[in-house]
Amino acid sequence: MSRTRLIEITRRHIAHAVAGTVDQAPGIRSVPADHYCDSQRWQLEVDRIFRRLPLLLAFSTEFPKPHSYRALEVAGVPILLVRNGKGSMRAFVNMCSHRGAQVVAEGSGEARRFLCPYHAWAYDSNGALLGVRNSGEFGEVDPSCHGLTPLPVSERAGMIFGVLSPAESFDFDAFFCGYDKVLALLGFADCQVVGRQAVEGPNWKIAYDGYLDFYHLPILHRESFGTEIGDKAVYDAWGPHQKVSMPLPYLASLEKKPEEEWPESLLLAGIWTIFPHVSIGTFDADGPFFMISQLFPGERVDSSITYQTFLSPAPPGQENREGIAKQMEFLHRVVRDEDYATGKTIGRNLATGAKANVLFGRNEGGGQRFHSWVDALVEAGESDLPEIFSRDIGPEIR
Ligand code: FES
Ligand SMILES: [Fe+2]
Repeated sequence: MSRTRLIEITRRHIAHAVAGTVDQAPGIRSVPADHYCDSQRWQLEVDRIFRRLPLLLAFSTEFPKPHSYRALEVAGVPILLVRNGKGSMRAFVNMCSHRGAQVVAEGSGEARRFLCPYHAWAYDSNGALLGVRNSGEFGEVDPSCHGLTPLPVSERAGMIFGVLSPAESFDFDAFFCGYDKVLALLGFADCQVVGRQAVEGPNWKIAYDGYLDFYHLPILHRESFGTEIGDKAVYDAWGPHQKVSMPLPYLASLEKKPEEEWPESLLLAGIWTIFPHVSIGTFDADGPFFMISQLFPGERVDSSITYQTFLSPAPPGQENREGIAKQMEFLHRVVRDEDYATGKTIGRNLATGAKANVLFGRNEGGGQRFHSWVDALVEAGESDLPEIFSRDIGPEIR
């Protein structure tokens, strides 16, 4: 089913390659400058997008066994992720029910129970309160309503997605629109984490715009990737999620070949983005490896933080660590000194108020669609979720 969808998509890309065309939106779109630099607007985006939708929090491979855990902070929320005794992922606010201390220090490991460092209340890997120290002296506490606060979580395609606001459940299927089934073909479930690094960046949308934009590649990245790299993009969408691919001329040669002979690597080539904050790219260091970028808003409208996690499909110890380390250094530099350095000038300039709008061309339809979804979700009320994900937000791009 997922492969069938990729074949359909690739047929469309081949048609573009044969005709020498690119995907185009019906018109040029203006995005108000203050959508990038107004603090109130930014707070709405944090509350209605980052605190309300699933975010990529971690990778399945980080939880190899029952009781594997990782404690981390995401967009200001301390989170405890843990695989319970039955192998299911659980997510909690990493906050003690007694007086609110952080229960588990940031980091990862394996533990059947978590002891709060303040007064030693204990919790298990389902977040249940196991015991209150000196309970006879403390007084009676009902364990059934004093466990850790659960967050909706779902493990898909080798990734762990969670919602930062406590809720009984979340309709992850509605959110993914089938995209998770296609992402599963990337094989993250069988990958190892081989590196991780962070890059400080500009406003989160200025940063994210760049991941959907091939128009800038041979210009901004001429010194790093070179001028030979294409600047044409085709966009495929699953609800708010988009894949960006290059309609490379050689695709035309596939037109007459039977589909069964189309290599999987070709079907999977491109940049996979997961709304609102993830970009997945494939690179090579004597073998493929992935860079998964997770973007989060920083503390203010003009800052963001991006975590780049590197996954390798090779078994531990067999991956080309030295080659990957070199590429990591390169990718950190490109994003920091080229993309985000430019993004910071954009943020500064937009804040001057000299221009009321910025423009997304007909060839930048992916960016147009991203902003349509951001606007729709900022305006959406609680009752619009999850139905909103089945809407056609547009624009039509072809
Ligand atoms: S705050 Fe955790 S035991 Fe007191
Ligand atoms: Fe870039």
